[in-house]
Amino acid sequence: MIYDQQTIHAYEDIKRIAKKYPGRLLDALECFSQNQYDCKTWLLDCLNQYPHHFKYKTRDSIDIAILGGWYGLMASLVSTEFKLKPINNIHSYDFDPIAKQIGKWLFPAVDFIEKDITELNINDKHYSIVINTSCEHIDQSLLYKSIDSAPPKTLFVLQSNNMKEIQQHINCVKNVEQFTEQYKSRLEKIRAYELDKQRYKRFMIIGVKK
Ligand SMILES: C[S@@+](CC[C@H](N)C(=O)[O-])C[C@H]1O[C@@H](n2cnc3c(N)ncnc32)[C@H](O)[C@@H]1O
Repeated sequence: MIYDQQTIHAYEDIKRIAKKYPGRLLDALECFSQNQYDCKTWLLDCLNQYPHHFKYKTRDSIDIAILGGWYGLMASLVSTEFKLKPINNIHSYDFDPIAKQIGKWLFPAVDFIEKDITELNINDKHYSIVINTSCEHIDQSLLYKSIDSAPPKTLFVLQSNNMKEIQQHINCVKNVEQFTEQYKSRLEKIRAYELDKQRYKRFMIIGVKK
């Protein structure tokens, strides 16, 4: 094992979580699992290859929203691995105050916003990209509302899965065809993807708000 300053920080974080939120320790460690990492780097690989002209053409840099951002891993990886344009702001929205608190320890550079996405009007913001890797946790009407409240040409990146045996997964899809079908009337230029994780399948679509 390499014992360096980063390793020391990581163990300090684990200690802090275990002391203050012992019931959340396993959940917080899950966000560093190989599976979580693979699904999020897969997203960035596909997004970096998606041909898109951003709607604010005159701007040098763009704003990005992450919905259901959990402890901030997605936002953190976007900030280092997104290649299409310079980024101005990345906002990681989640309604869970403990996720925000733990996330600030794990990813201090991430801008966490504690908010229910029910109350988020994307039209009031300047997001060029909206990423939601938590679709399986969120009611379908709310996912539609998040798209309907965004200006045309906003780029959406959505992930879900078929793991319906997990209690918190209230909105799984059977396959990538069903996932695409749900968004066909709202998004155009859709590219659909599937990642086989053996135990389950992860689905993703990237598309532009009509
Ligand atoms: C278990 S986590 C993330 C799992 C997902 N596979 C991922 O890695 O992105 C799901 C997150 O969605 C958040 N969430 C669910 N409904 C929400 C809502 N209406 N507004 C904001 N956050 C929400 C939860 O608080 C939780 O942090």
